[in-house]
Amino acid sequence: MEIKRLKGTYDILPGKIEEWQYVENVAKNIFNKYDFEEMRVPVIENVDLFARSSGETSDVVKKEMYTFEDKGGRKIALRPEGTAGIIRAYIENGMASMPSPLKVCYRMPMYRYDNVQKGRQREFNQIGCELLGSKSYEADVEIVELIEDLLNALNIKNFKLEVNSIGCKEDRAKYREALRNFVKPNLDKYCDDCKVRYEKNPLRILDCKVEKDKEMNEGAPEITDYLCDDCKAHFENFKKMLTSLGIEFTVNSRIVRGLDYYTKTVFEFTSNEDGLAILGGGRYDDLIQELGGVSTPAVGFAIGEERLLSLFEDCNEGKEFKNNPDLFIAYIGENANVYATKLARKLRDEGIKVEKDIMERSLKAQLKFADKKGAKFVVTIGDDEIASGKCKIKNMETGNQEEIEIDKISNYLK
Ligand code: HAM
Repeated sequence: MEIKRLKGTYDILPGKIEEWQYVENVAKNIFNKYDFEEMRVPVIENVDLFARSSGETSDVVKKEMYTFEDKGGRKIALRPEGTAGIIRAYIENGMASMPSPLKVCYRMPMYRYDNVQKGRQREFNQIGCELLGSKSYEADVEIVELIEDLLNALNIKNFKLEVNSIGCKEDRAKYREALRNFVKPNLDKYCDDCKVRYEKNPLRILDCKVEKDKEMNEGAPEITDYLCDDCKAHFENFKKMLTSLGIEFTVNSRIVRGLDYYTKTVFEFTSNEDGLAILGGGRYDDLIQELGGVSTPAVGFAIGEERLLSLFEDCNEGKEFKNNPDLFIAYIGENANVYATKLARKLRDEGIKVEKDIMERSLKAQLKFADKKGAKFVVTIGDDEIASGKCKIKNMETGNQEEIEIDKISNYLK
């Protein structure tokens, strides 16, 4: 029986991959301009890393994590997100000694046992950045600026930025009490998940997707009214700077994020088309210490690459990503085959994308293949061409043909 791909996974085939590579290259260039350097960490980590960072009551850890026991009895998880692994590596590799702030970026596959639907896969990719070591609101601003630059560079327009502040530990303790008091009279009408959240992590009640719960949440106290002076000033400065830079945003006090490590600034970029989050992020000033490192403030974000691509396609209809061969070298006869093979190697060395028959085809079949591959130029090498050192080069788009010296092919193509 034929074996099929697993639900929530997909294959990216030649013809489509060019679009992914384009988007990834644009991201790489933007990150580079802001001096973020790439980092890669393992797919598999100790389960506790995510339980301790994302939070035991988060959906990501409680419902969506792929976990298994390896042959040595270790409890292992496929990473559901990138931040925890990056921070584990930061601590483990003594990266705190590097110049601060430290700016790292990544593009890595993630795994969540999510309900598969539009914008939700079980294996998906995140492109993200983490900025470690600055407690200033300016770091939050730089992250948002970089994201805006990226979306602009990809010509993505139909999105909105929502920001919020969830304050520090002390602010949230006060707010949790206020929220519990608000929910308490209706607690028995809330969903079972929210009843648990009420005990363990009431902020998450604001994130509940159940319609009835959402209605009951209307009029709930707002976290921004519970911020201490320091957190309030941080948030005000952040918003003021965004405004000065002409970056549009709205404050949404319901954004609490689905992971537990956040402090102060949180934000989400959402598609105006389908309301799905393209990316999310925020500050996590306590995480590094909670994972055993020296207390270090940090802020970051991650984009769902699949969602980014879907928006990119909506906003860039008709854009082509063909990566056809620059040149096809056809040959007539065994002598010319050797010559053409050497020529192909020399031209590849000079950076030209060259195709040459390796199927022992007839000349007719070679030219048919060149056409199918969409080669931009074709030359045919036979004994005459070898003797004269000249060949005819055909522009496949216009049909024009010119005689040039074989030695000059690379100049001609460039
Ligand atoms: P997150 O909001 O859980 O944050 O995920 C970030 C993005 O990943 C989402 O906005 C969405 O585009 C994408 N995503 C999440 N789940 C799926 C899925 N099942 N299928 C497809 N795309 C998905 C984080 O993961 C944090 N680590 C972000 C961060 C970095 N915060 C600070 N630094």
